[in-house]
Amino acid sequence: PEVRPFSVPLSIPPVLKPTRSTADTDFYDMRIAETELEILPGIRTRTLTFNGSFPGPTIRAQRGRNTVIRQFNGLPGPATVHLHGADVPPSSDGHPMDPIAPGQARVYRYPNDQRAATLWYHDHTHHLEGERVYRGLSGAYLLSDPVDARLPLPSGEFDVPLILRDAKFDSGGQLVFVPDDFLNRPTILVNGRPQPYFEVKRKLYRLRLINGSNLEMFKFRLSTGAPFLQIASDGGFLRVPVARHEIDVWPAERAEVLVDFRSVPPGTAIALQNAAALSENKRDILQFRVGGGASWSKPEIAIPGWPRARVPSAREEIPGWPSNDPLRGRATKTRRFVMRLDLGSGRFVINDKGFDPDRVDATIEHGSTEIWEIVNDDVALGIQHTMHLHLVQFRVLDRNGRPEPAYDAYPKDTVRLFPGDVVRIQATFDSYLGRYPFHCHFLDHATHSMMGQFEVVPRR
Ligand code: C2O
Ligand code: CU
Repeated sequence: PEVRPFSVPLSIPPVLKPTRSTADTDFYDMRIAETELEILPGIRTRTLTFNGSFPGPTIRAQRGRNTVIRQFNGLPGPATVHLHGADVPPSSDGHPMDPIAPGQARVYRYPNDQRAATLWYHDHTHHLEGERVYRGLSGAYLLSDPVDARLPLPSGEFDVPLILRDAKFDSGGQLVFVPDDFLNRPTILVNGRPQPYFEVKRKLYRLRLINGSNLEMFKFRLSTGAPFLQIASDGGFLRVPVARHEIDVWPAERAEVLVDFRSVPPGTAIALQNAAALSENKRDILQFRVGGGASWSKPEIAIPGWPRARVPSAREEIPGWPSNDPLRGRATKTRRFVMRLDLGSGRFVINDKGFDPDRVDATIEHGSTEIWEIVNDDVALGIQHTMHLHLVQFRVLDRNGRPEPAYDAYPKDTVRLFPGDVVRIQATFDSYLGRYPFHCHFLDHATHSMMGQFEVVPRR
C-alpha cells in the first residue's frame, strides 16, 4: 500500500516508568515480543517490540544513577539487547554470543557513568541483528547529566527523539526483509510511522536524530534552507554548537539539533528532508506543521546571540557549556582494519576475516590509548561502510590525511567511511575489562559478517 508522505501524524514513544527506584538505581521491566501494530493507516503489521511499542519505549537516565533493566525474551529464538554508545560492563553489553534464551529473562545493568548523550538500544543477536532491528527492536535511551540539565535547552514536549529507518512493505502491509537490499526499501519510518507530519508550536525544539536504519544514509536538511544548530553528536555535546545546513547521519549515528520555529508564521509547513535520498519518494521524511499561539518574542535560551544571530566561534566559551577534551593519554599502539566485500565468499570482511566468536582481533591493555586506522577498501564496488566500537567514545583524528571537522570528530562511537576512505580514530580503553565487538553498523553487513572483537586485559 502506498502512503502519501505527511498523511499520518508522528507518534512519540512513551517514556518507560521504573517499576521501582532506590536512592541510586531505577529498575525497569521490558518484554520482547511480536505484536501487531498500526504502522500504515488502517493495517495491522506484525512487528517485533519492546513492551508492545515500536520503537521501544524511551528510557530516560541520569548520570550517577544506575539503570537496571530486566528483559524478558518472548520470542521463539534467542535475543540480546545492546545499549549502543554506552560504557557498560561486558556482562551487560548484549554481546551477540551472550543471548537471552527464549522464555527467559536477563538483567542488564547500566552504570550511566558518562556524559549526557542520546544513546539507543537494539537487538544484537548473532546473525540476526539486521533482521531483528529491521522488524522493530530498537528504542531511545536518553542520558542526562547535571551540565545538560543546567543548560537552557528545550525540555519536556520540546525535547523529541526521532528514530528514523528504512522499510519495505508487501501488498498486505507486512514488513519485507531482504538483506542488503538498500535500493528496494522505499519507505522511511519516523518513530514507526511512514513519513509523518508533526504539529509543532512556535518554540525552539531539541530534536534527537537517531539513524536506526540497516542501510539508509541520511543527509538531513530543512526545506526552507534554514540551518539546524547542532549541539551534540553520537556520545554527547560538541565543544561548541555549530549551525549546519546539512548533517550526515549514517546508520547508528546520532545528531542532536535545535530547530527554531519561534519566528515562523503559523500555518507554515517545513519538511525535514534527506538530501542524499536515492529516490524521490524517500526525500521528504517529516513535515513540521507550525501552529499558532505561543509567542516568540521571549527567547527561551539565554546564551547571548545564540542560536538566532550567529554561531559561536571555535575558541569562544559559552557559559555553562560542557568542556570536552577527550584526548587522554598518548597513543601507544596503532592498528589497521581493512573493510571490504569479499566477492569469493559473498561475505563482508575485516582484514580478510569474517566474525568468529572465538577469535580476538585486538588485545588491549587496560588504560591504554590506541589509534585505529580504518580503511574502506570497496573502491571498485563503491560500497559505504561504518565502523562502530562498543564500550568507548572515540575521536576521529583525520580522514584521508585531513583533520575531521569538529562536529564529526568527537564524541563518536560510529564513523562513516566512503569507498576508499582511510580514517584514523583514537580511543582510550580505561573502563571495563572484557570482550567487546566492533563492526560495520550497516547491520546487514555486520550480520554477514563484518565484525571483530577486542578484549581489554589487565595491565601487565
Ligand atoms: Cu549499535 Cu554492536 O551496535
Ligand atoms: Cu559495511
